[in-house]
Amino acid sequence: MLKEKIRFDYNNMTADFIGEKEGVSDAQLDSYKKQAEDAFNYVKENSGKGMMGWTELAYNQDEIVKDIVATAENVRKNFKAFVVLGIGGSALGPIAVFQALKHLHYNELDDSRRNGPKFYVEDNVDPERMNALLDIIDVKNTMFNVITKSGATSETMSQYLIITDILKKALGDKFANNVIATTDIEKGNLIKLAKKEGFKTFYIPSSVGGRFSELCPVGLLPAAVLGIDIATFLEGAKFTQENAKSADFRKNAPLCAALLQYISMQRGKNVSVMMPYADSLKYIADWYCQLWGESLGKAVNLKGETVNVGQTPVKSLGVTDQHSQVQLYAEGPYDKVITFIAVDKFRSEYKIPEGLPEFPDVNFLCGNNLGKLLNTERVATEYALTKKQKANRTIYVPEVNEFTLGQLLMFFMLETAYTGALLGIDTFNQPGVEEGKKATFALFDRRGYEEKKAELQNAKKKENKYII
Ligand code: PA5
Repeated sequence: MLKEKIRFDYNNMTADFIGEKEGVSDAQLDSYKKQAEDAFNYVKENSGKGMMGWTELAYNQDEIVKDIVATAENVRKNFKAFVVLGIGGSALGPIAVFQALKHLHYNELDDSRRNGPKFYVEDNVDPERMNALLDIIDVKNTMFNVITKSGATSETMSQYLIITDILKKALGDKFANNVIATTDIEKGNLIKLAKKEGFKTFYIPSSVGGRFSELCPVGLLPAAVLGIDIATFLEGAKFTQENAKSADFRKNAPLCAALLQYISMQRGKNVSVMMPYADSLKYIADWYCQLWGESLGKAVNLKGETVNVGQTPVKSLGVTDQHSQVQLYAEGPYDKVITFIAVDKFRSEYKIPEGLPEFPDVNFLCGNNLGKLLNTERVATEYALTKKQKANRTIYVPEVNEFTLGQLLMFFMLETAYTGALLGIDTFNQPGVEEGKKATFALFDRRGYEEKKAELQNAKKKENKYII
């Protein structure tokens, strides 16, 4: 395993490369020195406190890791499938890590090559999806990991109710052996249910919010069940933190990245495109979208002033989306920062065979590796966007493995925390999702939501003239 450092390249964010109008000059960057230091100090002072317990996870989980590894061994030995029930921060991390570190057709491998249970994450309440899952698993030999920090999320608790009902019918009293709960140590319904039913339980620290929870049992248990080396994964995260100890943004990559995004937002660049050039990192973009969108999209700042800030995160995949989105990135508005994730060394290669000398338009590809084609297209797209003065930056990952993935996730978490501090907002709340949740409860006639129901009933009705 290559235990090398990921690198952050911001050449194409600077005035030197994309001009004075779109880029940032050295002098402009330096004028933000104090603001960057303040953001750094704010994050440092708050680390481990409030909702910033995630900064401690790479340092304080030795005992938990042992328990997770032992539990995972038991699951790997005795179960044919492992299903995560959860949504948002309780699902996106496990999906991203699974895609990054396991075979890209893991579930389709035969048992001996897969060498572990099949893996599914149910992060929706689509009835067709639930039925489809139940069509392909045998619940008797499936371990269900129900993950919810709040222990109250409607989607996850619906999944829980369905699965435990089926399990009870199939296994009777022994059904609890097929459920592991991952939840807050004291708050919510799941912890009460876990105690009542006797589920094996892992805890999400109160100071760790959903979208910052991949490095706690939320992400570590599914990863360990997949045979992923979670100690090295945490080591990678720690490595990023140890390399981000300077208040000088030129010596602290996540702080530098945050500052550039902050300046970009001030200049109307309110879209952040995450574009990995590797299928293995495809769902890192999904995970990032929640982290960046939910953390930074805020109406008010910490002083209570209306700010309506945030950068809309967009997921994109190289080279696939070169054929769908890059036209817009090249010629559309100057409202985006595009982040490429480049992989230096792919874990496997494939050589394009020789064979069409009579077709020079195709023959130039022959004899080259697919990885070379992928990376060349990235370099070419980066060049084309830079030529059009479109702000872009690249994170180089030496090789996708536990160590570099831990680094990458911590890089983005720190970047998010620093950006939130620069914006002066609460990075760790999500008040904007509450209204929709309450309306759902009211429409489902949940007790206590009668007033909300009346409000909805009195709301302006849609007019048929606008439905054609
Ligand atoms: O980041 C967050 O806190 C949220 O997006 C949650 O992850 C999501 O709502 C799921 O919450 P819970 O884990 O409580 O079920």
